[in-house]
Amino acid sequence: MTCIPILHGDDNGLTAAVDALAVGQLVGLPTETVYGLAALAGDDMAVSRVFAAKGRPQFNPLIVHVTDVAQALTLAQLGGQALGQALALADAFWPGPLTLVVPKTAGADVSQLATAGLDSIALRAPAHPLVRKVIAQAGPLVMPSANPSGRLSPTSAHAVVQGFCDPHQAKDLVEDLGQAGPWDIALVINGGLCAHGVESTVIGLTGDAPTLLRAGPIDGRDICAVLDLPALAVPDDRPDAPQSPGRTLAHYAPARARLRLNADAPGRDEAYLGFGLGLSFTLNLSLCGDVVEAAANLFRHLKALDDAGFRKIAIAPIPSHGLGAAINDRLARAANADK
Ligand code: TXA
Ligand code: MG
Repeated sequence: MTCIPILHGDDNGLTAAVDALAVGQLVGLPTETVYGLAALAGDDMAVSRVFAAKGRPQFNPLIVHVTDVAQALTLAQLGGQALGQALALADAFWPGPLTLVVPKTAGADVSQLATAGLDSIALRAPAHPLVRKVIAQAGPLVMPSANPSGRLSPTSAHAVVQGFCDPHQAKDLVEDLGQAGPWDIALVINGGLCAHGVESTVIGLTGDAPTLLRAGPIDGRDICAVLDLPALAVPDDRPDAPQSPGRTLAHYAPARARLRLNADAPGRDEAYLGFGLGLSFTLNLSLCGDVVEAAANLFRHLKALDDAGFRKIAIAPIPSHGLGAAINDRLARAANADK
């Protein structure tokens, strides 16, 4: 099981990790909750490779990991009560296993795939000293748990390698992936066993009241104590839930334009979002027909066409192998959103 090297968290290992991230590769990193599969948050292709390597069938938004409040504030657009609440929670629990979902600042250098096209962003300053050193040198990182989709979250470097490399565990994954996969994971840094073993608590600060989006190591009652609230709100429409009602689906869709899927040609008043070779495309998700590149461009191109004033977007057929399934899932939901 040597398909991904495990390196010590010394200067050599950390330099190798930072160098790999800088060229768009993925790196397994220890955090105090679980091991994360890291990519530079601003690198569209690298973020797309994270989804591909995990074999994720959907584009759920990812957490962007930062060193501290100052770096978080460069990515968040906070004012009023939410700002006060975010600062109070960060002061009490950062660095640590708390993720805050807040409005995203317009110019944030974060891939739109990382936030799944939402105008909010999930931010966490992890406590593990090794991941903190990598973020300090490389910049903000997306990091879902470092396991193939649907498998257990790893709490050791060996578990990361086992999940992606064990032929029995990884077989279906490799057959499914198409052009990207575990081979994009350059290395894993060994930071010992994770202290918590479960993913961070996620608190939403974008609505009327602070909301518990995911239970985790920090108890909701401790959050309430800091915010001086009797209770946290509970979401009934999680943004990544397939059964989410229309309000949330609309968030994932372009703001104004309607989508028409599997279109072989555009109508007269339609923009045409292409895939592969073709003459009449307004924009192309991937000229060479690569689903990983298409995923990297998906939200950015949809937004560009929407912002350019098109009210109808026809989308060329996209094959459903590898990340194509996640692309088609997201497009189908966006096409069904009410306008
Ligand atoms: O402990 C952790 O948080 C681990 C370690 C590696 O840091 N990371 C992790 O990442 O669990 P991930 O990407 O698997 O978790 C993302 C969670 C999901 O529940 C997702 O729905 C939520 O954060 N989330 C991310 N962005 C969001 C957003 N804009 N709005 C609402 N929820 C969001
Ligand atoms: Mg996970």
